Amino acid sequence: METLEGMSRTHHCGLVNEALEGKEVVVCGWVSRRRDHGGLIFVDLRDRSGLVQVVFAEDKMVEDTFHKAESLRSEYVIAVKGKVTLRSADTINPNMETGKVEIYCSELRILNTAKTPPFYIQDNIDVDETIRLKYRYLDLRRPEMQKSLILRHRVTKLMRDYFDRHGFLEIETPMLTKSTPEGARDFLVPSRLNAGKFYALPQSPQIFKQILMLAGYEKYFQIVRCFRDEDLRADRQPEFTQLDIEMSFVDQEYILNIMENMIIELFDKAIGKKIPAPFLRMTWQEAMDRFGSDKPDMRFGMELMDISEYVKGSDFKVFSSVLENGGQVKVINVKGYANIPRRELDNLVEYVKIYGAKGLAWIQYTENEIKSPFKKFYSEETFKQIAEATGAETGDLLLVIADKPLVVAQALGELRLEMARRRNLIDPDKLSFLWVVDFPMFEYDEENKRWKAMHHPFTMPRDEDIPYLQSDPGRVKAKAYDMVLNGTEIGGGSLRIYNSELQEKVFEAIGLTPEEARMKFGFMLDAFEYGTPPHGGLAFGLDRLVMLMAKKQSIRDVIAFPKTQSASCLMTQAPSDVSKQQLRELHIKSTLKKDKDKDKE
Ligand code: AMO
Ligand code: AMP
Repeated sequence: METLEGMSRTHHCGLVNEALEGKEVVVCGWVSRRRDHGGLIFVDLRDRSGLVQVVFAEDKMVEDTFHKAESLRSEYVIAVKGKVTLRSADTINPNMETGKVEIYCSELRILNTAKTPPFYIQDNIDVDETIRLKYRYLDLRRPEMQKSLILRHRVTKLMRDYFDRHGFLEIETPMLTKSTPEGARDFLVPSRLNAGKFYALPQSPQIFKQILMLAGYEKYFQIVRCFRDEDLRADRQPEFTQLDIEMSFVDQEYILNIMENMIIELFDKAIGKKIPAPFLRMTWQEAMDRFGSDKPDMRFGMELMDISEYVKGSDFKVFSSVLENGGQVKVINVKGYANIPRRELDNLVEYVKIYGAKGLAWIQYTENEIKSPFKKFYSEETFKQIAEATGAETGDLLLVIADKPLVVAQALGELRLEMARRRNLIDPDKLSFLWVVDFPMFEYDEENKRWKAMHHPFTMPRDEDIPYLQSDPGRVKAKAYDMVLNGTEIGGGSLRIYNSELQEKVFEAIGLTPEEARMKFGFMLDAFEYGTPPHGGLAFGLDRLVMLMAKKQSIRDVIAFPKTQSASCLMTQAPSDVSKQQLRELHIKSTLKKDKDKDKE
C-alpha cells in the first residue's frame, strides 16, 4: 500500500474544469469505473464533489505506473497527479459535469484496495433496501445519497442562521430524562445507580423548552433527536430529528409568521424555490370536510362532497340507515373515469376497507347510461341533481361512501389520494403549503374509552371553549396548528397553558387525577408557580422536510444511518444481545424463555 506522503490534493474531482487546461493537478478518490482499451486505460475517479475522467496512456508514462493502473479495480482508493487536458469534440461527455476535460496521469498512488462491492456505486440502482442498509457505507457513497446529506447539512445551517438572526438561542436539553407528553410509547433506559428506576428518552424536548421559557430565555430553538417507540412507516423513524422552537410573549399570528418566513428562506436558499406568502390557512374542520384529512394534499382538487340530502329517505337501506344514525354520504368526482374497469372498482372496494369503510358505491355517468349499484332505488331526476351538485359531467365517475363522519373522512380521504396517484393528477414539482389551525383539543380513544389530548395536554384551549372542558370535551378547539406540505405534516405546535388552574382542568378532562398529574409532571407544575410567561412554539420534522426537498419517498433516504421497519439497524445489528453481567449491573432480568435458560447455564 502506498501513502499520500509528498503528494497533496490540489482539486476535488467534480471541480476540475476547462479553466485548468494545461495545469498539473492532484486528485484523490475512489475508482468508480475502469475501462481498459489495451494501451489506454480510462478511470472515472469519484470523490464527494463528483467524477472526473483520468487517462493512463502506456506511451505517455513510465511502465511501472501503467502496470499499476492495470491492477485498478472498482472502489480502490487512489491519488493521481496529472495534467488537465481538453477532450476532443467527439469525446466530450455531456452527461458528466466534468465531461469536457480529462486528466492525463503522470503519477499514480494506490492508497488502498477494496473488495468487490455487492452493488454498483451509482444512482438509480435497483437493489433491495436491506442490502443497501447492511452496506450503508457503500450506499452512502452513491451520488444521490451524498446529495441528500449535503442538502440536509445546508438546511440545518440555514435554520441556525435564521434563528440566530432573529434572536433565538440554541440550548440543549437532556436525553436521559422523564417521560414526556407526546403520547407515543417511551424508550426506557435502566439506571445502574438507581436500582429499579428508568430514564425515558425524550419523545420531544416539550417540557424542557417550556421550562426554558419560564426561566426567561424568551426565544429557544434546538435541532434535536427525538425517540418514539411507535409503528414505523415511510415517514416515521424510532429516532428522528426535530427543529424544535419555543417563544415567550407572542401570539399565534407571530409564531405562524416567523415560521412561514423561515420556511420560505430555506426553500429559496437551499433549493432555489420561491414560495409565495402567506401560506393558505384552513381550519381542521374545513380540512376534514373538504379533503377528509388533517393534512390535505393541496396539489390537486377532487374534494369530498356531501350528497346526503339527495339520497336520504329512500328504500336503499345502506344509505338510509347510515343517515338515520348521524352518518353522512359523501363522494369524490374522478373526472373522465366513468369507464373504469369493473375489476378496478372491486379492487377499490377492498382498498377503502383498509381504512374502515364498510363498502363503496359509485355512479358512472357514461355516454349512454348511468350505472350505479343503487340505481334502482332512485329516480333519474335524483341522479341529475347529484350530478349538478357535484359538478359531475358525462364521462365522470363518482365514488360514494356512507358511514360515520370520521370513517367517511378517512376512507374517502385516502381514496382521493389513491385515485390522484392512479390518474396521475399530482404534479411532482409543485409545493403546496398549508397551515391547518383550530385543531380539536381532544380526541376520543375508543380502545381505552376516554378522551386524550390530540396534540399534548399543555396545549391552550380556545378561550371561548374553556367552559366546555368538562361538559363537552369533543367541542373544545385548541390554539394548535400544523404546517402541511404536499399532504405531509411537516410541523406542529401550539400556544401553551400557563395558568395552573386551567392546566388542572385539562388534566381532569383527560382523566388524569391530580395525584397522577403530580407524579408525571409535578416538577413542571411546581416550576409553573414561579411566574410563567405566555408562550408557545412548534416543532418541525427535519427528516420529513429534507425528504420533501430532496424529492425522496422515504425519510430513510435522508438519514445517514436509519432503522428498518422493525426498528433495527442492519449495519450494526442493533438492537442486540447483551451480557448477563451487563443486565445484572442494571438490575434487570429477562422474562424471555431462551434468556432464562441461558441464565441457568
Ligand atoms: P409533534 O409530535 O407533532 O409535536 O412532532 C413534530 C413533528 O415531528 C415530526 N415527527 C416525526 N418524524 C419522523 N418520525 C417520527 N416518528 C415522527 N414523529 C413526529 C413530524 C411532526 O410534525 N413537542 C411537540 C411540538 C410542539 O408542541 O412544540 C411535538 O413533538 O413532522
Ligand atoms: P350490500 O347491501 O352490503 O350488498 O351493499 C349493496 C351495495 O351498497 C354495495 O354494492 C355497495 O356498492 C354499496 N355499499 C355498501 N356499503 C356501503 C357504504 N358504507 N358506503 C357506500 N356504499 C356502500
